[in-house]
Amino acid sequence: MYQIYPRSFADGNGDGVGDLRGIIDHVDDIAALGVDAVWLSPIYPSPMHDFGYDVADYCNIDPVFGTLDDFDEMLAVLHECNLRLLLDWVPNHTSSKHPWFIESRSSIDSPRRDWYVWRDARPDGSPPTNWMSMFKGVPAWTPDGHTGQSYLHLFLAEQPDLNWANPEVENAMHHTLRFWLDRGVDGFRSDVVNLIGKGTDVDDLSEELAAVPLLATDRPRGHELLRRIRSLLDSYPQRPMMVGEVYLLSAGESASYVGTPDRPELHLSFDFRAVHVRWDAAQIHRTIAAIQNDFSEPRWPTWVLSNHDQPRHRSRYGSDAHARAAAVLSLTMRGTPFLYAGEELGLTDGEVPPDRVVDPNGRDGCRAPIPWTPDGDADTGHGWATAPWLPFPTNASTHSFASQRDDPRSMLGLYRRLLALRAATPALRSGALDLAPLDGDLLRYDRVSGDQRITVVVNCGTAATPWPDDLLTASVLAASGERIVVDGAPLDPLEAVVLGYE
Ligand code: GLC
Repeated sequence: MYQIYPRSFADGNGDGVGDLRGIIDHVDDIAALGVDAVWLSPIYPSPMHDFGYDVADYCNIDPVFGTLDDFDEMLAVLHECNLRLLLDWVPNHTSSKHPWFIESRSSIDSPRRDWYVWRDARPDGSPPTNWMSMFKGVPAWTPDGHTGQSYLHLFLAEQPDLNWANPEVENAMHHTLRFWLDRGVDGFRSDVVNLIGKGTDVDDLSEELAAVPLLATDRPRGHELLRRIRSLLDSYPQRPMMVGEVYLLSAGESASYVGTPDRPELHLSFDFRAVHVRWDAAQIHRTIAAIQNDFSEPRWPTWVLSNHDQPRHRSRYGSDAHARAAAVLSLTMRGTPFLYAGEELGLTDGEVPPDRVVDPNGRDGCRAPIPWTPDGDADTGHGWATAPWLPFPTNASTHSFASQRDDPRSMLGLYRRLLALRAATPALRSGALDLAPLDGDLLRYDRVSGDQRITVVVNCGTAATPWPDDLLTASVLAASGERIVVDGAPLDPLEAVVLGYE
């Protein structure tokens, strides 16, 4: 899966903000990378307080990105190239400018009043509960002067939470899924989806949880709602899928949101433990073991190193060598790897000076625009006709697309090689994972399917480590460094090698 942050991917109309036309222009490049599907962060009409995660109309395209015609063209071109398309579906909240909310807030008697979560203040005038919003450290309740009540928003005040306990809301949101499924999309990434289970079930939490209330919203109703969403998806001939963003106090619990084979919910449930792991052999080993355990058969995990909410892993780990080893790890894991556009170039975050900060939650750096060409500076060029909305990654000049396109030894070359190998190798695509005990800094696992066995070794340390004796007869299928044959030479620092057996 290849996540595109549309504002930052490619700019077709030269206004400095990426758009659908820009994506259409690069579909061949995405196909050449070797991914199976593209997920687009939200492209719907939005006041952009949270850059599209505040949706004002679920069934249209924001003019900054293009039109529904552009969308249809993009979908057709993706499908021609055998790429599937997932849209980002934001079910927990709308924009405060969505007509549903405008109607809801208009009066206590509005027929849509109950589409959102309204409560009276406490007798002392304080907010209805102690919940805090995820952004800006303010209460999750905003008083709406003229009715004397407050509405709930787990994110910005411009993102009021829908009340999924109301069947009309469920219906209306099902309609939004159908709108895109009827147009031919192949699935959805569902934003903070566990939150839809909370309904009006909103009471005081412990002080610790009140600061991050989304971690405390694992409710049976959420699972019920997801089962009905799954039935809707299953009724479509293209067999659409849904991957959900589920954040819970116990990370492993997110696995329960795939349901059971006879009562399925999400197809995939994100696990973000890999995003938060430090580059340390023991930590990486523990994380792999934990994720594989929580998502053991018949569940299937996801692997995420970067996305639009976290610093890029190239910046977190600090070097190309780390990022190359990480690519081998993520693309040989049991599970579906989610790549964040630009990681295949080894991009770092952008440096955003205080006067250019636009995100309410400090995430501008990882949303830096993609440098298509090497020529440019921090703010202009790199294939963008107009200076883009955010500064470029700090390594834009050395890590642009054009500087890597024809170089098999580049980061892009490595990603293409690993994706092609994965596609051609059943054990890598769908085999079991057999994790060996950690040996110093040497991480090692096998992927096994039928008679096929693939071994991956990763030297997570910064010193050379001996080549394992029992792997002297294996052959190199891919490597993060220069190695092309097994000759017993020690593994270099941060070297990762994928091995097969004749
Ligand atoms: C999810 C999105 C994030 C957004 C938030 C509110 O966590 O990934 O970008 O700000 O939900 O919709």
